[in-house]
Amino acid sequence: MRKKIIVGNWKMNKSVEESAKLATELVAACKGQAFSDKVDIGIAPTYLALDRVAGIVKGSPVKLAAQDAHWENQGAFTSKISVDMLKALGVTYVILGHSEPRTLFGETDANVNKKTVKVLAEGLIPIVCVGETLAEREGNITEKVVGTQVRAAYQGVSALDAAKTVIAYEPVWAIGTGRTASDDQAQAVHKYIRGLLKEMYGSEVAEVVRIQYGGSMKAENAAGLLTQPDVDGGLIGGASLKVDSFLGIIKAA
Ligand code: PGA
Repeated sequence: MRKKIIVGNWKMNKSVEESAKLATELVAACKGQAFSDKVDIGIAPTYLALDRVAGIVKGSPVKLAAQDAHWENQGAFTSKISVDMLKALGVTYVILGHSEPRTLFGETDANVNKKTVKVLAEGLIPIVCVGETLAEREGNITEKVVGTQVRAAYQGVSALDAAKTVIAYEPVWAIGTGRTASDDQAQAVHKYIRGLLKEMYGSEVAEVVRIQYGGSMKAENAAGLLTQPDVDGGLIGGASLKVDSFLGIIKAA
């Protein structure tokens, strides 16, 4: 049985103070709860708030996630943050290839691959995001698009390392739109991705890799999605910004 994993992606939201407040509330809400052992929980504040939030979640079931990372250790890479730096703060997960960097800031499959390799080399867990646009879905090329993204991200990644990764299937048309993929739509793509992993790495690896769904997941629709056989968790944007709605999803998981 794969353990469910729910990660909140705070994106470019909340000041350091606001992040500290939300993290404190979440840690308090998770304390002593039976679900804390059954679900892996993560939050990805802005880089600015990581240090502060790290101190708050320390020793709690809530793990720290970063929204991106660069593949070099240091140097002349203005605006970037290295995996080393994240590791020093106690970060567990690194979100890579999210559709916003892909569509708004020119993130490429090749870069996502370099980042995935680096994050794994440093012993952190990459959350590799993939997903099709509405035009691609309507053009019936969802599997082709998602398949290309998965294959590219895992170039040169060993089976041993691949087994440690998390994939987030996030249809671009469902992100922040209030339009969620139906349970069946999500399951179909998750099943396709698992099949692809089996082709690439064999069934043992395919069976352990957790595949999250992301895109307007909220407490109200989480149970339906999370009971699909190949949906192993959620990457949550909007609904992770309030403790009640995020907790509702964690409880559903
Ligand atoms: P959303 O975002 O839950 O606000 O749709 C999900 C994501 O981008 O990870």
